Amino acid sequence: MNTRKAQQVITGQATTDGAGVDLVRVIGQPALMDLDPFLLLDAFRSDDPNDYIAGFPPHPHRGFETVTYLLNGRMRHKDNTGNEGVIEPGGIQWMTAGSGIVHSEMPEQQDGLLEGFQLWINLPSAHKMDRPAYQEHDATNIPTETREGATLKVISGVTSQGTTGPVTQPLTDPVYLDVTLQPDSEFNEILAADHNAFVYVISGQLVLEDTDGDRVDLGCDQLAVLSKGDNVALRSGDQASRFLLVAGKPLNEPVARGGPFVMNTAAEVRQAFSDYQRGNF
Ligand code: FE2
Repeated sequence: MNTRKAQQVITGQATTDGAGVDLVRVIGQPALMDLDPFLLLDAFRSDDPNDYIAGFPPHPHRGFETVTYLLNGRMRHKDNTGNEGVIEPGGIQWMTAGSGIVHSEMPEQQDGLLEGFQLWINLPSAHKMDRPAYQEHDATNIPTETREGATLKVISGVTSQGTTGPVTQPLTDPVYLDVTLQPDSEFNEILAADHNAFVYVISGQLVLEDTDGDRVDLGCDQLAVLSKGDNVALRSGDQASRFLLVAGKPLNEPVARGGPFVMNTAAEVRQAFSDYQRGNF
């Protein structure tokens, strides 16, 4: 067994996006621009409506997938192809933007706690212009696996115990787990050895080893990029811990970013802006 180690520890950076939503950018900031195939990870958690009420009015995407996972609160989603719905607590919306979509993501609440994540997952060049698609699941569709000391929600991928998440994406073969670990407990999981992976702590603390063999204490809002290896071994401290464990197959292709578009070349990004401006989405 080659256990994955913490290769880099990232602390999320406070920023504002959309029409003025306060969030913490974890992937997609100078310290970690991307972790192939993951392009961005934003975390939002606030009970002050001033931090979120402005939401994300209509904006386009092309070339990748946006994955919204809500822990608390409600978000209304609407796009230019006529899809509309509300993401509820514990629900997931896995949107393949593909060739292009214009959507809005607005809080469906005037007050109270809004908490969740948005992860961007890249698409390979041959599939960037695929037709837009959705995989949407509410909390009741996301299986919970119980182990000694741990409970996990399996959004995507198959765990070593055989629990299968409802979202499938063979292009990047993602694993997306939301794990709650009891105090002083251990969590071990097998991951595809050549896939990139990270853990992100939502609450409590995680203990793991870094690539020098030293102990790393990973706190709230911190992410550890994991080295390659076939399994991951994580421990909680004296408090319960909740974290995301995410892995995916790297695409190893050039990444050209232009705001809401992620393509392989600058020319393709310019084409995306031009298509959007001409109303060709
Ligand atoms: Fe969006």
